[in-house]
Amino acid sequence: MDAEELRSAYIEFFKERGHAQIASASLVPENDPTVLFTTAGMHPLVPYLLGERHPMGKRLVNCQKCIRTGDIDDVGDSSHLTFFEMLGNWSLGDYFKKESIGFSHEFLIGVLGFKPDQLAVTAFEGSGSIPRDGETADIWRSLGMRDDQIFFYGMKDNWWGPAGITGPCGPDTEIFYDNGQPKCCEGCGPSCHCGKYTEIWNNVFMEYFKDEKGNYTPLKQKNVDTGMGLERVIRILQGVPSVYESTIFRNLIDGIAEVSGKVYENENIRMFRIIADHVRAATFMLADGVMPAKIGRGYILRRLIRRASRYMSQLGYDEAFMADLAEIVIADYGDAYPELRKNEKITKMALAGEENKFRKTLRKGLRHFDGMATGNEGREFMDGEQVFKLYDTYGFPIELTAELAKERGLKVDLADFESRFKEHQDKSRSGAEQTFKGGLADHGEATTRLHTATHLLDSALRRVIDPNITQRGSNITAERLRFDFNLDRKVTPEEIAQIEKLVNDAIKADLPVICEEMPYEEAKKRNAIGVFGDKYGEKVKVYTIGGVSCEICGGPHVKQTGELQGFKITKEESSAAGIRRIRAVVGKFN
Ligand code: SER
Repeated sequence: MDAEELRSAYIEFFKERGHAQIASASLVPENDPTVLFTTAGMHPLVPYLLGERHPMGKRLVNCQKCIRTGDIDDVGDSSHLTFFEMLGNWSLGDYFKKESIGFSHEFLIGVLGFKPDQLAVTAFEGSGSIPRDGETADIWRSLGMRDDQIFFYGMKDNWWGPAGITGPCGPDTEIFYDNGQPKCCEGCGPSCHCGKYTEIWNNVFMEYFKDEKGNYTPLKQKNVDTGMGLERVIRILQGVPSVYESTIFRNLIDGIAEVSGKVYENENIRMFRIIADHVRAATFMLADGVMPAKIGRGYILRRLIRRASRYMSQLGYDEAFMADLAEIVIADYGDAYPELRKNEKITKMALAGEENKFRKTLRKGLRHFDGMATGNEGREFMDGEQVFKLYDTYGFPIELTAELAKERGLKVDLADFESRFKEHQDKSRSGAEQTFKGGLADHGEATTRLHTATHLLDSALRRVIDPNITQRGSNITAERLRFDFNLDRKVTPEEIAQIEKLVNDAIKADLPVICEEMPYEEAKKRNAIGVFGDKYGEKVKVYTIGGVSCEICGGPHVKQTGELQGFKITKEESSAAGIRRIRAVVGKFN
């Protein structure tokens, strides 16, 4: 079975069972500002999972294009992909566990031809007030699964969602392919990474809503959200070692071989795979309107293009090639995803543009790097100044330098890079704008970012620790922010991690920062947080950041939270009795 056949078998199966087919949504999420890309089929359906009526009914099915960017650096092994397709079926307050599991079982065994022995399944073991899901295990047993094929796991493995910060979520039952090899150890099961088990389908019983404070409340309706990884299933059905050897990537791998004149074997395998994955993902992103940029989605796209480009150089091919490979992607996927053909011209132009820009400096930069690397042998970290030069003069994303360094057994000090980066920005700014460093008069880029970070931190503290926390002092320099607030104990490392995560989620979501002028009374009505209360005049400026923060403030602030790139708490300490002090920095940290 190939991808086209699997797509239609899946859609037909669920159509016959009363599901309406919906189109794949864009990779750029429309309704959820808290994530960069559509990461699952449920994403565009969030309003309907929360109870809004879907015009197509209560049973839906589709094949959704998705991007997950967490593992870009792992792409090249046999399993990681940035772009993938997810087959999904949904019940919006209609059927629940019994039918959902029944459908999956019937499709896997009856249509795809899996043997019952080749499957293993999981169920939620319970956590806090949410009970163990014995019902799911009973349903699997009633379908003939033996107890030794059913595994219970907790929150980490058997709970899905929400996709962003808040939203629908619930316990799931995951279905695994068991390749029949002996267990690697006594505790070996689907959560083990020894290779015996591969997850193929996830059926989520979405009956909870997670709010900003992290509480779970029952949803109005009980939903089912399932997702099956098309690439993984194809790999298993075709019995190949990785998806890159399946029919899905055949044309692209052949194309890379033709362009580079190299064979897909030995040490070339990883490079071929990275190029294939990145070109496929980049082509889909461009067709959905993402353009290379310094931040946010565009930065991910740029990283993919530059990384693919440099691996092509390593294969020995130094000309632009991506537009040709994009053509293969468009031919392979154009029927299933018509937007690829519609945007073919602009996609190819953007690829060639970005690639040529990068290529101009790549060769020189690589030569420079080689010299550097030799000079750095024996050191723990590569010389910071030289690393910065690669970024500044040769346009190497820091991730690329780190990767090149790793290949030579060297390390890059990311914190050092970050501080040089800031210093550089501050210098070029004060040169250009004649501003002064430090104090309130400083409206430079670095402090502006930290002003916005302070608002996000303020809001995260209240969400994670206590809604009664208020600001008791703030001081910002070009290097860091310092924030004092009321709390009579230490902030725990877990809380610090949660706070950083919330702020980083808001940064990744690239939320707009909106400034409005309004009478103080009006700002109060909106529940804007005001630090200096009665010191304000008639009208105040209110800065709103997505749904995350609303605060009276004189500014300055960035336009989009993505400009912060990342957020890290560097110190937490006591400032005075009942007052804690946090220091934090912004920038790119990994
Ligand atoms: N949303 C679930 C997942 O991504 C099921 O589709 O695994």
